[in-house]
Amino acid sequence: MSIEIDILNGDASWPMAEPLLQAVWAPQFVAGKPWAHVKWANADLRVLVETPEDGLVCHVGIYFRTITWNGQKVHIGGIGGVSTREDQRGRGYATVAIDAAVHTMRANEAVRFALLVCEPHNFAFYEARSWLPFKGEVYCEQPEGRIRFTYMAPYVFHIVRAPTLGTIDLCGLPW
Ligand SMILES: CC(C)(COP(=O)(O)OP(=O)(O)OC[C@H]1O[C@@H](n2cnc3c(N)ncnc32)[C@H](O)[C@@H]1OP(=O)(O)O)[C@@H](O)C(=O)NCCC(=O)NCCS
Repeated sequence: MSIEIDILNGDASWPMAEPLLQAVWAPQFVAGKPWAHVKWANADLRVLVETPEDGLVCHVGIYFRTITWNGQKVHIGGIGGVSTREDQRGRGYATVAIDAAVHTMRANEAVRFALLVCEPHNFAFYEARSWLPFKGEVYCEQPEGRIRFTYMAPYVFHIVRAPTLGTIDLCGLPW
């Protein structure tokens, strides 16, 4: 089996990623979630995993942002929109795509750590991949203003550090 892993500009690759993301995060599925109304940031880059037989099978969005941690500016990376086509799960595609995203974030020398937010059913998935629960508070922007983000749990990944306590302000939309 051969797979191709591309890391592309987020906006330019949106048309390629959109059908997969619409299938995994279908409007009727999202509508029932407490976070259905949340406005999310657009990915700066996207990891796209493709196979010759099945086309696009997995997507991971990559984000870069200068946030504040306990009031101090810190440049971080992040991942979001982690999605594998339903009939292609359990083959290691998300693992490969997340590894590629972490590699890309590490290559950006300014990045101190990475952050994601996820629902409880994915805690074990990320913990098995060395992501640590962030136990402090996370704030972000929404169209109505600055809010404390409590819809999903934050996880951090060690790049040069991995703070798990304190207050993070994403200084923009969440991802
Ligand atoms: C979560 C998701 C991206 C995993 O994609 P995938 O390509 O199947 O992942 P991989 O094949 O790399 O890894 C699957 C492995 O993780 C395990 N796994 C998958 N989901 C898990 C979960 N929620 N909790 C714990 N382990 C999980 C599988 O058992 C498998 O383990 P193994 O490698 O020991 O066999 C996929 O299930 C998905 O798209 N889910 C819906 C969208 C979603 O929830 N995305 C995450 C947003 S934060």
